Parts: sequence; C-alpha cells; structure tokens
Amino acid sequence: MSAAAVVPAEAETGADQRPTEQIAKGGALYAEGCASCHGVDLQGDSGPALRPLAALKQPQGAAASAADLARWIRLNMPVADPGSLTSAQAHDVTAFILARSGVSWGAEPLAAANSPTIFLRKAK
Ligand code: HEC
Repeated sequence: MSAAAVVPAEAETGADQRPTEQIAKGGALYAEGCASCHGVDLQGDSGPALRPLAALKQPQGAAASAADLARWIRLNMPVADPGSLTSAQAHDVTAFILARSGVSWGAEPLAAANSPTIFLRKAK
C-alpha cells in the first residue's frame, strides 16, 4: 500500500479516473473493519454482499447517492460500533465500495461536495 498512487498529470480524461489514494485508504479500512462480515471480495459472508451496488438494500430508493451510502455506513456500521467512523473515513470506504462496482466519478476524492451527485442505481 504505497502513498505514491498518483494520477498522471497529462491524463485529461476525468471520466475514467478515480482517486486511487482514497480508494486504497478505504480498502485498508474495509479490510480491517468490514471484510470479516462482508467478505474480502465484498461477496458477503455473515453480512450481505456489497456489490453490485444495485443489489444494496441500504440506503433505500432509486435516487440513493454515494452521500446517502456514506451517511448510512457512518450511522450503522460496523455493527458492533456504529458511529466509530469519521465522515472522511465513511467517504473513503464508500469510494472503495463504488470502485469495486466499477463506478467512476473522476479523480476528485469522494467527499460531501461531490457525493450527492453520484448515484448508486441507474435511473430507468
Ligand atoms: C460484525 C459484522 C459486520 C461488520 C464488521 C460490518 N458489517 Fe455491514 N452489515 C452487517 C450486517 C449483518 C448487515 C445487514 C443488517 C443491517 O442492514 O443492519 C450489514 C449491512 C451493511 C450495509 C447495507 C447492505 C444492504 O444491502 O443493505 C452496508 C453498506 C454495510 N453493511 C457496510 C459496512 C461497512 C462499510 C463496514 C465496515 C466499516 C461494515 N459494514 C462492517 C454486518 C457487518
């Protein structure tokens, strides 16, 4: 897990970029605090699978956003100690979950400013 995950400056195609450093941080948080119940590959174990995103029951609703997921995680997870994640950590782990479902939102880290505009389910 190196801190040297840097998006090349010449890359201009924001759509295919992700904030790799944040995703790595979220992945470390996930491995430490979530994988034991949700599976190392998010496939589910004692807890439900966390991908594909469309299968998530929480947060509810077709318009659920990454902000809603980060908030739900912060208020409810981990089961034994809800509220123990900071908002930044909840966004980090949410970025990891989104990335593992193939969602791209640009190179900006997922945060309160952009997460309400990133939706978990495609509008039909
Ligand atoms: C001790 C086991 C356990 C741990 C650790 C745990 N979870 Fe969960 N998680 C569950 C269970 C059980 C549920 C389903 C019950 C519920 O919705 O409250 C759940 C539900 C969820 C859901 C909603 C899934 C859905 O389909 O509704 C998300 C998202 C989630 N967890 C994320 C996380 C994250 C992120 C972490 C780590 C910070 C984490 N969980 C840690 C057991 C766990």
